[in-house]
Amino acid sequence: MLGLKLATDPRWAALVESNIEEILTDHAWCEQKAATNAITIITLNSEHEDLVTDLLILAQEELEHFQMVHELIKKRGYKLGRERKDSYVNELFKHKVKQGGSRQQGLVSRLLFSAMIEARSCERFKLLSEKIKDPELSKFYHDLMISEAGHYTTFIGFARKYGKDIDVDKQWKDLLEFEGELIQKYGKKETIHG
Ligand SMILES: [Fe+2]
Ligand SMILES: [Fe+2]
Repeated sequence: MLGLKLATDPRWAALVESNIEEILTDHAWCEQKAATNAITIITLNSEHEDLVTDLLILAQEELEHFQMVHELIKKRGYKLGRERKDSYVNELFKHKVKQGGSRQQGLVSRLLFSAMIEARSCERFKLLSEKIKDPELSKFYHDLMISEAGHYTTFIGFARKYGKDIDVDKQWKDLLEFEGELIQKYGKKETIHG
């Protein structure tokens, strides 16, 4: 799915189902991080009008997702716990975004990093929508899967557009390889990327 090298073990979905409160808290903070990341890209690249326009919409959608998860948490009598660290995302960031380079490379790296998180989140939401027995959550994750797939397309599209002097396709392929190795450590915790 979306070029990912390794599918998530379906047992992860069973683990998630055993601790819905934990996955919802972690998920809420994933959406917060996604909104924050989009705003950071806007802040660092404000000269690109089309990118600012589309990422403002994307950031609002991520905030809306955050709100939707928060409403679910309240409705079920759960509590939104403290922010969870996302070591999968941190490792991807270290590998792709922290490597530096030109300003153009910096933008492409950040966009590919973002596309990768959307792709993996999308894959995990799909698995949850198929495996989770709770009908409300199953529908919820199905709807989010479609939205995050759209975000993936937005990030990849801008990486290609603003990476004209860069071999974006090769960098994306390399990142897919790296992620395929990285994700082998995960799938053992009841968090979105855990
Ligand atoms: Fe989202
Ligand atoms: Fe997203």
